[in-house]
Amino acid sequence: METLVVQGGSTLQGDVFVDGAKNAALPIMAASILVTGEVRIKRVPDLVDVQTMSLLLQSLGADVKRSKGTLGIDTRDITSQHADYDLVRRMRASVCVLGPLLARFGRASVSLPGGCNIGHRPIDIHLKGLAALGADLRIERGYVIAKAPQLRGADIFLGGPGGSTVTGTCNVMAAACLAKGRTVIRGAAREPEVADLGRFLNSGGATISGLGTSTIEITGVDGLMSITHTVIPDRIEAATYAIAAAATRGTISIHDVQPRQMTSVIEALRAIGVAIHVAHHRIDVSVSDPLHSVELATLPFPGIPTDTQAQFMALLATVPGVSIVTDRVFPDRFMHAPELARMGAVIRREGASVVIDGGRQLTGTSVMASDLRASAALVIAALAADGESQIRRIYHLDRGYARLEYKLNGLGAQVVRRRDEGSSNGPPHFLNNASAESNRPEIQVD
Ligand code: EPZ
Repeated sequence: METLVVQGGSTLQGDVFVDGAKNAALPIMAASILVTGEVRIKRVPDLVDVQTMSLLLQSLGADVKRSKGTLGIDTRDITSQHADYDLVRRMRASVCVLGPLLARFGRASVSLPGGCNIGHRPIDIHLKGLAALGADLRIERGYVIAKAPQLRGADIFLGGPGGSTVTGTCNVMAAACLAKGRTVIRGAAREPEVADLGRFLNSGGATISGLGTSTIEITGVDGLMSITHTVIPDRIEAATYAIAAAATRGTISIHDVQPRQMTSVIEALRAIGVAIHVAHHRIDVSVSDPLHSVELATLPFPGIPTDTQAQFMALLATVPGVSIVTDRVFPDRFMHAPELARMGAVIRREGASVVIDGGRQLTGTSVMASDLRASAALVIAALAADGESQIRRIYHLDRGYARLEYKLNGLGAQVVRRRDEGSSNGPPHFLNNASAESNRPEIQVD
């Protein structure tokens, strides 16, 4: 286990460069199963979840190689269609191999994902969509056993009580690429990461239209050929740094982003009083005026992403006044609230909302990460707090943020990673402020 030791009180200043989007890279890696040829995916972030998806593909018999930020995947020699519980339990996005395995091989056995700290996350809509394409599905001993000699196009509604499903849309859209005939997915997720998967598939010969809208149409083809694709920027990583800058009243520029994918986040920050300047592939964040409390609610894209809810909660704990944050996607995604309270935040849970009595000075202490974005919220609070914080179980962070402490220290923070079972590296030391440029992944923003 490892801990992040954060000295609070620094004001973030300078430039930071975001990586490729985790939530685009993962379904794209899974969809490489459809491709009978070489796949090259550029701007793949160096994350634990990417390593897990690579291990899963290799367990099926695929060849996966990484060279800097580019993944080379060859699935021509896949021999197994069994996605084991031990890998699937580490990462829910593993379920994205189900549709591609079924479409290419006519069968698949994929472990059900199991529980999750951010709330109830069934895959019933994934299964409903694949059944509509003609798959025979049953659940046996915690596995989805799927068979489909030939998938057939269908007109499918994929909306559910929590709105659209991101990975559900990815799974069904990928499977429909090799189905006979035309598929219409209504109530499709509009997230940019879903659209990026669609562009990846189209560049391999698929015929998908309506990407970015709630109605996606796919006309099945016989197969997909070799693909080279560059993943879109990670809008959640970018939002996390913008919110961290606001929480420390700093001034930063966030590079290699697509601002049009961040409109709801930019508007929410402006409503709080944060100054945001939008350039072509950059957003500049600064705080000059006093910040004020707001009411925010997360929604499927283009709404405020649920993946930024915890980060906004940490920021609003530092803003005088009563704020309300509601999560309409994952109404139980509040594991970070009690940990923020340990740092002095005054937060009251009210069903799918929290009421934050903000503006008190947060104080550094030991806290426990519970999931990926909750961990980011704790880091943000620790940066704004008075004194030192120790954030434990930061393996959660490493699932979704590459080089976090280096990027934060490049902005003037004081963050050090410490091995819990006695550091073999001597006393904690603060990483010298790595230059922002050294953090820049080798990418060209298209
Ligand atoms: C994706 O998860 C993201 N993960 C999540 O990001 C993100 O929080 C979520 O979308 C919402 O934006 C990846 O893309 C790998 P959903 P996903 O299916 O697809 C309900 C992060 O921090 N639902 O869009 O699993 C579900 O319970 C992660 O990077 C069903 O009812 O989320 C929820 O209420 C965390 N049945 C709502 O839909 C289903 O079959 C949205 O979930 C599927 C979903």
